[in-house]
Amino acid sequence: MKVALFFFSGTGNTWKITEYIKSYLIELGHDTHSYSIERKDLNWDEFLPEVLSESDIIGIGYPVYGSDIPIIMKDWVKEILCKYSKDKKNNPRAFVYDTMAMFSGDTPLIMRRRLKKCGFKVKQAINIRTLCNIPQMPRLMVWEEEKQKEIFNKAEIKGKKLIDKVIENKKWVMRRDPFTRIVAIIQRVSLRAEINLARKMFEFDMDKCTLCGICVDNCPVDNLSIEETEDKPKISYGPDCIVCMRCFNSCPQDAIIVMKRTRDTEKYRRFRGQVPGFNLSKVKKG
Ligand SMILES: Cc1cc2nc3c(=O)[nH]c(=O)nc-3n(C[C@H](O)[C@H](O)[C@H](O)COP(=O)(O)O)c2cc1C
Ligand code: SF4
Ligand code: SF4
Repeated sequence: MKVALFFFSGTGNTWKITEYIKSYLIELGHDTHSYSIERKDLNWDEFLPEVLSESDIIGIGYPVYGSDIPIIMKDWVKEILCKYSKDKKNNPRAFVYDTMAMFSGDTPLIMRRRLKKCGFKVKQAINIRTLCNIPQMPRLMVWEEEKQKEIFNKAEIKGKKLIDKVIENKKWVMRRDPFTRIVAIIQRVSLRAEINLARKMFEFDMDKCTLCGICVDNCPVDNLSIEETEDKPKISYGPDCIVCMRCFNSCPQDAIIVMKRTRDTEKYRRFRGQVPGFNLSKVKKG
């Protein structure tokens, strides 16, 4: 079979899970490719219709943000994927995998519903636990190497189980119980407010910043730029942030502050390099 995986990954976890899934599919003899939805070298208008018509199955992967789908993924599905979905008969089958630190709410169901609306049959929609990427919540952070390995081993097993179900065309839809759905609704509503609040909390410590441009080059929504001022250049933060935490976690100088307390970089150690084999070029190049 021919399989295409489309993913968004802010800090590497979803990339890693996509790699597990891809390797397993290849091991099983399926022609599989993965594409980060951030890729600017792809002309989606030409590329996507071709991939959709050639593929038997597509997978959609992304991190959970407060029981919701990241805005960048919602927009890609709505404005790009759904634009080229044909009809129920001719579309490839689709499956969904969310990555999360602890609780995904009913996010897999929400994506499933969106994909079904634009004509995809989705029999598998699940979440997979990975590592937390928000050091502002130190209790959720896992730093011990052994524990990290354990989490990723379990994630790999779950990824393989997902693929087995996909191949057998058996249903596996998680998080449908009423309790999860109610908590998720509450979390979604509060996250929207929190994201707006978080956007106001981004600061750039220009005493530490070396103007290396890493954050500017790697922001998935081009929200950052280096602004010349009469005094010293500074980092300008625009209105489009999706709070993926990539810049905050990957600044080599820890010069990005999101909440005053994260000036304490020992207590709020940034999440980077925890995923074996990850570097930012992986999400830019797929
Ligand atoms: C803004 C934001 C909100 C998040 N909300 C949740 C959440 O509600 N539940 C959860 O389990 N993890 C949550 N996380 C953690 C991420 O979902 C998790 O670390 C994910 O695997 C990150 O994937 P990535 O490295 O591919 O970006 C959140 C992360 C961010 C940045
Ligand atoms: S990554 Fe950090 S040091 Fe580099 S430009 Fe951005 S804020 Fe400055
Ligand atoms: S500004 Fe930082 S947190 Fe916001 S979208 Fe860009 S990289 Fe992500």
